[in-house]
Formats: sequence, C-alpha cells, structure tokens
Amino acid sequence: MIGRIDHIGIAVRSIAEARTFYEALGLEVTSIEEVPQEGVRVAMIPCGESLIELLEPISPESPIARFLEKRGPGIHHLCLAADDVAAADVALRAAGVELLRPEATEGAGGTRVNFVHPKSASGVLVELAEGPHR
Ligand code: CO
Repeated sequence: MIGRIDHIGIAVRSIAEARTFYEALGLEVTSIEEVPQEGVRVAMIPCGESLIELLEPISPESPIARFLEKRGPGIHHLCLAADDVAAADVALRAAGVELLRPEATEGAGGTRVNFVHPKSASGVLVELAEGPHR
C-alpha cells in the first residue's frame, strides 16, 4: 500500500531564496508549478528516491501563508507514496484515522492526494500521494 517517502514538504516564504541552499548541496530544482487549488507555488527537488517539495504561498488565504504566519518557515508535511489513495482512505477511516478531505483531490505533478490530520499521526501532517511526480 505504501511504497516509500515520496517527499517532504517545506513551507518557505520564497522559493527563489530557499532553493539556493539545496543547490549549494548539489541538488537541482527540476520543476516549479503553481497549484492554484492549494494556493501555492511548488518547487520539486529530487533527492535519491524521494523529493524535497518547497511550498511558497501565492495568496494570503493559502494554508501555507497561515502556516508561515503562525510558525515561520519549516517542515510542513511528510508525503508517503500510496499505490491507491482511495483504498488507503477507506482502510485508514476503518482504523479510526481522521482524513482532512472526504476524498482524494488533485495535487502537484498530476498526483491524487489526501491528508491525514496531524492528531491521528503524532502531530505530523501526512500526505498520501498516488501517481508519479516525474
Ligand atoms: Co506535498
């Protein structure tokens, strides 16, 4: 059901500024995409078999804008690759896990995603993503 860590999402005020650290490590930004339904611009940085996802708000109502206001830049979520998000949703709900959305929605890179409420996952916002980023 769950294959690997797909990516780690990091809230940033500016992708242009934040990317310089990863580029100094020798990593590369391979895509930048706006996801208007989430109110963010997303930069993907491959790192081994996983990705680092930089999330920059594009509107003040964006959940990432609110996160930055409250907590400043930092780790926002952990994303696990699921082969079937809808099936994972059903299994998790049956186990009493709270999901943020009634069903999977479209995420960055053409993925299908849903999120587990942090209170069901030891304080971590967990994204489940189905489908390739690259
Ligand atoms: Co993500």
